[in-house]
Amino acid sequence: MAIHAHVPQQTAYKKLLSSYLDNGGESALTVAYELGRRNLQNGTGLLELAEVHQKALDEVLGTVDDNSVTRRDINRAASRFLSEAISPFEVARLSSRNANDALIKLYEVFESEAKRIAHRLHDESAQMLAVVYLELAEIAKDSPDHTAERILQVVGHLDEVSSQLRSLSHELRPIILDRLGLLPALRALVNGVRKRSGLIIDISGDTEGRLDSQRETVIYRTVQEALTNVSRHAKASHVDIHIWRDSSCICCSISDNGNGMKLSSQGSVESPGLGLIGIKERARALGGDCEISSCPESGTTLQVMIPL
Ligand SMILES: Nc1ncnc2c1ncn2[C@@H]1O[C@H](COP(=O)(O)OP(=O)(O)OP(=O)(O)O)[C@@H](O)[C@H]1O
Ligand SMILES: [Mg+2]
Repeated sequence: MAIHAHVPQQTAYKKLLSSYLDNGGESALTVAYELGRRNLQNGTGLLELAEVHQKALDEVLGTVDDNSVTRRDINRAASRFLSEAISPFEVARLSSRNANDALIKLYEVFESEAKRIAHRLHDESAQMLAVVYLELAEIAKDSPDHTAERILQVVGHLDEVSSQLRSLSHELRPIILDRLGLLPALRALVNGVRKRSGLIIDISGDTEGRLDSQRETVIYRTVQEALTNVSRHAKASHVDIHIWRDSSCICCSISDNGNGMKLSSQGSVESPGLGLIGIKERARALGGDCEISSCPESGTTLQVMIPL
């Protein structure tokens, strides 16, 4: 694609470059840095800036004699000027990499905190419930039949509470995700959601072996949020989850047959909440992405792709 620099920008660049070539000095290089920073801010691309530079340099070289020493000096000085002008782009690239690293760290902290809470929820609730079971059994022993029957009913409710707490603690940070991998963890998640929501959920595909923990966690959290969204928003009856691996990515799609959601003309979600933003951020932190397609007749499909 041809890149056409704006004439005023071209003129301004040539003026600054010529001034640097004539007078040199640190302050002219500071001006080059400032010029690069402004270009970055205005959305000028690196290639565009390089083209502006090349044109300005060609014009300058067109005015000097064909003396190879002078031309070599000019080329060297112009290179220094260009390096200074593009250094804001490098600073921006490094900052964005640092921000990405910080985001990955943040998610790691979140996951280890979720693990800690899940273990406490699981272990402490089990201990407290065990005490309640024992006390109820004691009371039932000394009670008339009709009271003992009521106590038996209460024990039945407690069994429900206990199994719900176990399944919630597993979903908070499933031990099987670390121990057995993504598919077993997703099957356990799907079983829990099926029971709670009444949705019919099919899961198919394969990861072709274990993935690293970061990728497994991102896919698990994506499916978890997508299923929560289907239960909360979609009025769907059916969900299909499919996982596959191609030569360079691990991919997962979650499709429902619900009422769809509003997308902007560019295809992005009109009013995303923390859930969808979190899914996108997690995928992007690993160099991947997440796409949503939706229409009222055929429901919503969310697809996440993470490079391997
Ligand atoms: N499967 C779906 N079907 C229909 N609408 C959906 C679906 N998933 C998401 N949405 C719509 O997209 C919006 C944004 O979803 P998102 O998960 O980001 O936020 P949320 O679920 O509203 O809140 P939270 O931050 O707790 O996740 C939802 O409010 C809902 O209107
Ligand atoms: Mg949500």
